[in-house]
Amino acid sequence: MDAITSREELDAWRIKYLGKKSAILAILKGLGSLPVEERKVAGAGANSLKNELEALLKEKEASLAGGQAGQDKAPGAVDITLPGKPVDLGHIHPITQVLYELGEIFTSMGFEVVEGPEVEWDYYNFEALNIPKEHPARDSMQTFWVDAPPAEDGREMLLRTHTSPMQIRVMEKQKPPLRIVVPGRVFRYEATDATHLHMFHQIEGLAIDKGITMADLKGSLYEFSRRFFGPDRRVRFRCDFFPFVEPGVEMAVECAVCHGSGCRLCSQSGWIEILGAGMVHPRVLEAGGIDPEEYSGFAFGMGIERIPLLRYGIDDIRLFYSNDLRFLRQF
Ligand code: PHE
Repeated sequence: MDAITSREELDAWRIKYLGKKSAILAILKGLGSLPVEERKVAGAGANSLKNELEALLKEKEASLAGGQAGQDKAPGAVDITLPGKPVDLGHIHPITQVLYELGEIFTSMGFEVVEGPEVEWDYYNFEALNIPKEHPARDSMQTFWVDAPPAEDGREMLLRTHTSPMQIRVMEKQKPPLRIVVPGRVFRYEATDATHLHMFHQIEGLAIDKGITMADLKGSLYEFSRRFFGPDRRVRFRCDFFPFVEPGVEMAVECAVCHGSGCRLCSQSGWIEILGAGMVHPRVLEAGGIDPEEYSGFAFGMGIERIPLLRYGIDDIRLFYSNDLRFLRQF
């Protein structure tokens, strides 16, 4: 019995000593043919032997059920050598994952990551970015104004509509050469649907030095695309207008789903616009206290939510914020 270490061995033992063909059963069956006196003695002996064997069997069963190390411990005791129950671990949200990845790409290219306030003065969000009070470009930024009394100098507060105000804040503090990226939340008074949210993320880029040209802008953004989307993805620049750059461009990458032939995701165009960019407007440099005669720079602002949309072919942007674990667990 001591040599038995598995259920199979124990079963074999049970069949041999307590099974239908065992010696003990043969004795018990044969009792009927004995004279009464002998039957009593033999019956009592056989039954007590059978009980003993059954007790041994039970004990062994319990010790085997107690686990591998169970042979040395009392039946039912806790086996501390068993592996523990796995603890449920969460992971980083897909949008944060993308922000981290972009931060790594740009820091490896010499940019520094800085963050700024989400509640902002209209001065930084608009005025200093060459969008004066009556400028129609203000209307395209569906703004959440903060219901606070205006400051003494007339400045009003809002939820920033883009990360561009940090261009000015950084220029006020740091002198060129400077290269920064600003990841963060932005807010617009938009109706929510499959491609719009009232809160989303951007990453702003700004590089200022002597002699920076459009070639630096294109080179940096090509390199970003090559690292993030891979070397095979084509990239397209087209003219665009933003009051705080001159000239201004938009950058699009080849659609991930149709590779340029046109599909639902890219509205049949083959391209998906991911950012606005351009050479920093001289008025913006001046607002930041930098002499546009001496320095030039480029800036870009990229929407973050579109990027995993593109990468994984997701067709509804609201999924990122509905907190459905069946969706989030896939990333
Ligand atoms: N701030 C612009 C937007 O939100 C993007 C942009 C940033 C364009 C920097 C040019 C330069 O649409």
